[in-house]
Amino acid sequence: MVLPALLLLAAQLPTGPLHLEYREPNGFLLSLLKQLDIPVSSQTLVFSKTSAQSHLIFPSAPRAIFFNDDVYVGWVRGSDFLEISYADPARGALFYLLEQDPAIKPRLATKDTCLQCHESSRTFNIPGHLLRSVHPQTTGHPYTDRGSFVTDDTSPFAERWGGWFVTSSTPLNFPHMGNKVFPVIDDPKTLGRFDDPSWPTNTSDVVALMVLAHQVAGHNRLAYLDQESRAALSLQHTMNEMDGKPDLAANWSASTQRRITRVIESTVRFLTFADEEPFPQPIRGDSSFAQDFQKRGPLRAFNCDTRLFELPLSYLVDSKLIDRLDPVVKQRFLARLQQVLTREAGIGPYAKLSPAKAREAWRVYSKSAR
Ligand code: HEC
Repeated sequence: MVLPALLLLAAQLPTGPLHLEYREPNGFLLSLLKQLDIPVSSQTLVFSKTSAQSHLIFPSAPRAIFFNDDVYVGWVRGSDFLEISYADPARGALFYLLEQDPAIKPRLATKDTCLQCHESSRTFNIPGHLLRSVHPQTTGHPYTDRGSFVTDDTSPFAERWGGWFVTSSTPLNFPHMGNKVFPVIDDPKTLGRFDDPSWPTNTSDVVALMVLAHQVAGHNRLAYLDQESRAALSLQHTMNEMDGKPDLAANWSASTQRRITRVIESTVRFLTFADEEPFPQPIRGDSSFAQDFQKRGPLRAFNCDTRLFELPLSYLVDSKLIDRLDPVVKQRFLARLQQVLTREAGIGPYAKLSPAKAREAWRVYSKSAR
């Protein structure tokens, strides 16, 4: 088995042949991104004081987040460490710190406090990833009485990107909350483009930001599918033991059936973009993110005129996260996905999906999964 890059790195850093190069002004950041094959173009900039190192984060000094398919890296200027999260195929979201000190051998450390924010109702009450939209004040502090939003593909554009810089190659002529601070809530002040040579690049590409939102929500949902179905099966197992019955799907109670069907259905809806908010106008990024991302595998061609991706099936379905499911749950999940894409696109809850594109998505997926 090929070890995921991050685990390989975790195992090798203290003693092994892999090493990271320390360079001002970002310390180990660029070297780490390179080792993990995370493109710099994935940089997104968040200036709201919503995360752990809020004392160092300002509209004039945003936190930069970089990501590939399974690792997210946070860099804050002046911080003693890099923040890393990992969508682990076996265990869900894991969190690490990497100390920014050239004098010591770099290694990944864990810290319990991360889950104070990364495990809540926003993440289905299991360790997960986060992306919020808030009303930031000029200091970066969010107004706590103004409400905040968890952003995913279904979020209205008017509620997206509060506290984030958003850059694009064509103007975004629709209401959104990005690039704004709220001195008076009805009279927001628009910030200039963030430009400082200390940051690896000056973009916070709108397409990267939308993929980040999709992926954060998708990783959480796939982890929830796994945990919720395992919880239902574990309860069923206890009942079977009491009744002296074998653990067969034929013996599932009505409530186990319902629990598993429900979580499979909501995951399928998410992964097929059934409830995606239509784009108010064509949206174009301003970095090489779209190209870098599309090179990585199937189901990644962008549409970006009316919706994010061309085909109505998320690239996340291709991931190792599906393989960790209980075998019966996995089989039911894939059967339901096939049914929706080949027979139910265009009708009912899947009315927004084009039947032809949905069939093509299933074809592409089954070919790549073989
Ligand atoms: C005070 C709450 C809070 C704590 C504590 C916290 N985070 Fe986060 N984290 C957030 C929020 C909110 C986001 C979403 C981006 C933002 O607003 O900065 C986030 C995003 C992230 C991301 C980007 C992708 C993802 O997984 O959501 C990483 C990486 C991350 N945090 C790492 C860590 C690590 C490592 C720790 C522990 C050392 C930690 N965080 C502790 C609030 C927190």
